[in-house]
Amino acid sequence: MENKFEIIGGAKTTGEIEVNGAKNQALKILAAVVLASSTVKIENFPFIEDTSRMLELLEELGAKVKINKILKMVEVDPQGIVSKKLDDLLVRKLRASILLAGPLLGKFGQVEMNHPGGCVIGKRPIDMFIDGFKKLGAKVKWSEDGFCLQASGGRLSGGKYFFPKITVTGTETMMLAAVLAQGETVLENCAMEPEIPTLAEFLNQCGAKINGAGTSRIVINGVSRISGGNFKVIPDRIEAGTFVMMGLLTGGKLTVKNCIPEHLGAVIPILEKVGAKLEIGSDFIKTFPSKINAVSITTHEYPGFATDLQPPFTLLMTQAKGISVIQETIFEGRLFFTDQLVTMGADIIMCDPYRVVISGPRKLYGKSLTSPDLRAGITMVLAGMVAQGKTTIDNIYQIDRGYENIEERLIKVGVKIKRI
Ligand code: EPZ
Repeated sequence: MENKFEIIGGAKTTGEIEVNGAKNQALKILAAVVLASSTVKIENFPFIEDTSRMLELLEELGAKVKINKILKMVEVDPQGIVSKKLDDLLVRKLRASILLAGPLLGKFGQVEMNHPGGCVIGKRPIDMFIDGFKKLGAKVKWSEDGFCLQASGGRLSGGKYFFPKITVTGTETMMLAAVLAQGETVLENCAMEPEIPTLAEFLNQCGAKINGAGTSRIVINGVSRISGGNFKVIPDRIEAGTFVMMGLLTGGKLTVKNCIPEHLGAVIPILEKVGAKLEIGSDFIKTFPSKINAVSITTHEYPGFATDLQPPFTLLMTQAKGISVIQETIFEGRLFFTDQLVTMGADIIMCDPYRVVISGPRKLYGKSLTSPDLRAGITMVLAGMVAQGKTTIDNIYQIDRGYENIEERLIKVGVKIKRI
């Protein structure tokens, strides 16, 4: 029987909560290991479902993996890796498995895998990945449920690709593919999320030649090989933002530790606009009881308001005084979770899949909910903290995908939650 979370609402969150290593960086460093010619040691590693899936994929490719949960570290020896068809089920379970296509193609000249599939927040196409690889000299052969890519002449050659839309993993996968390509690659209209320049930093430490990561134009000069190395995963900015909003929602004095406030981009200025009282240090953010008023937002690529923080912010606006409009511009399915907040008592009107209008504040009452994806899932946990009475949430695999030992960490700051 699938386990659930049960939350009793009304408790303030107080004290200190530590932010873990960033899921959306650890996954990319693991993909980058394919390119390395010796062991890579990764510290501050988040042991969550998604990273476990990616480690399984690397082992399936022939890598040797050693994990040490006490030291929060993994060591991956890539020397046994060969490019072979990836396990369909694993690929479908982890959208980010598409990240492996770039390094496998760049190192071995060929890759075959299933379409990583979509999820509830959107169909998640990979057209820009395929178009990008073609610009590096790859030929694609489609099969009924996946694709095979071959580098003509056995090795990718540098090329130019202007992303028609900004894509985070598209940028990262093309960067990874270009590291061992022959010649220079120029990528335009790249994503600028903090995980990208730090990924480039790691690759350059291992001998790659990448310039411009973190800006919209990245230039990669291909090299013949890169070594292994050590890497410390940066703090998870989405965890940090989620915990800050948890503090504001429950009205406690909560210190979110081990985070990098500037990685939150426009989220901090927006929270200050809604009236949040925050103390912002170099590696922490402390919340104080605040009177929250309604502010409208539009999600945007970094450094704009992150789509992954839209769900908790949408919940925050149900408790804010006034009317706000939330515009989601990145994923077509990322606002559908709001119908579950409505069942709890929130006043939310969906104008179209990309836009909701919220009137607040409204009292919320505990309900039985289902977690559709990991960011909406954690938002339901937060809603359970705000609601009067008991809330149960099922399908919590989605939450475990991105938040390590979440219930222990929440209990420590006063949340009445248990896994049943
Ligand atoms: C990354 O997803 C993150 N995942 C997402 O976090 C995050 O929400 C998203 O970036 C936006 O910030 C990881 O880093 C593993 P995109 P990604 O490619 O790269 C469209 C989470 O909760 N698109 O930037 O898959 C796409 O459909 C996850 O941790 C194409 O049309 O997102 C979307 O509308 C959820 N064709 C838009 O671009 C393509 O070939 C941006 O998607 C690729 C993408």
